[in-house]
Amino acid sequence: MQRIVILTGAGLSAESGLGTFRDKGGLWTKYDLEDVATPQGFAANPVLVHEFYNARRENCLQASPNPAHAALARLQAAMPGQVTLVTQNVDDLLERAGAGDVIHMHGQLMRALCAACGHRWDAPRVMQPHAPCPACARAATRPDIVWFGEFPYQMDRIDQALARADLFVAIGTSGNVYPAAGFVQEAALAGARTLELNLDASANAGLFDETRLGPASRIVPGWVEDILSATARP
Ligand code: OAD
Repeated sequence: MQRIVILTGAGLSAESGLGTFRDKGGLWTKYDLEDVATPQGFAANPVLVHEFYNARRENCLQASPNPAHAALARLQAAMPGQVTLVTQNVDDLLERAGAGDVIHMHGQLMRALCAACGHRWDAPRVMQPHAPCPACARAATRPDIVWFGEFPYQMDRIDQALARADLFVAIGTSGNVYPAAGFVQEAALAGARTLELNLDASANAGLFDETRLGPASRIVPGWVEDILSATARP
C-alpha cells in the first residue's frame, strides 16, 4: 500500500481564475499583506479586511474546479485511505470537484470565525464588519482564515501523515510560506520520495527528488494517470 501526501497551493486554482499571491499581478503585488492578512491589520481596519475577503469569496463562488482538482479527487477515490490532501488554498474547489476530507491548513473562505469565543459557522456571501457572533453575540466576526502570525490548522494530523508518507507531492506552491514550505524536508527525512508539480520551479525545488513543470490542468491529470496505471499493473 502506497501512502501519498499532497500539498497544494494557489497554482492549483490559478486556471480556475483565482489569483495567485506572488506571481506577476498576484494578490500580494496589489495589496500589502500586513493590511489584509494579519490580526494587526484586522484590528486596524476591519472594513478593508472584510472587503478583501468578501471579494475573494465572490470570486471563488464564480469559479469552477479545473481538471487538476478533478484529477486529485479521482486519485483520492481510487486509493481509499491512502491519499492525504493538504491545501494552503482557502477556496472550496477541491471539494466541489468531489474530494473529501481536505485539510485546509490556512482556513476556508466559506467559513466564519468568532474572534472572541472561537465559534465557527458557514460564512454568508458578504460578511459584515461588526456582525454579531451567533453563539456569543459579540461583534467579533472574522473570516476563518489563518493570518500571518497565527498557527496553521491541523498540524498534528499533517505531521502524522508526513511521517508515514511513501510519496510527497507539492503542487502549485512557491515554497515561500512555512510551515508548508518545510513539508518536503519533513517527508524526505521520513523516507518519502518527493515530487514537485509546478508552473515554475519553486524556491525549494532543489529539495525535491523530481520536478515536473507545466500548467496544473495538464501535469496533474498526467501524473494521476501515471500513478493509477502503475497501481493497476499486476
Ligand atoms: P504563491 O502565489 O506564492 O505561488 C503560486 C505558485 O503557483 C507558483 O509557484 C507558480 O509558479 C505556481 N503556478 C501559477 N500558475 C500555475 C498553474 N497554472 N499551474 C501550476 N502552477 C502554477 O502561492 P502559494 O505558494 O500557494 O497564505 O502561497 C502560499 C501562501 O501564501 C498562501 O496560502 C497564502 C499566501 O500568503 C495565507 O494567506 C495565510
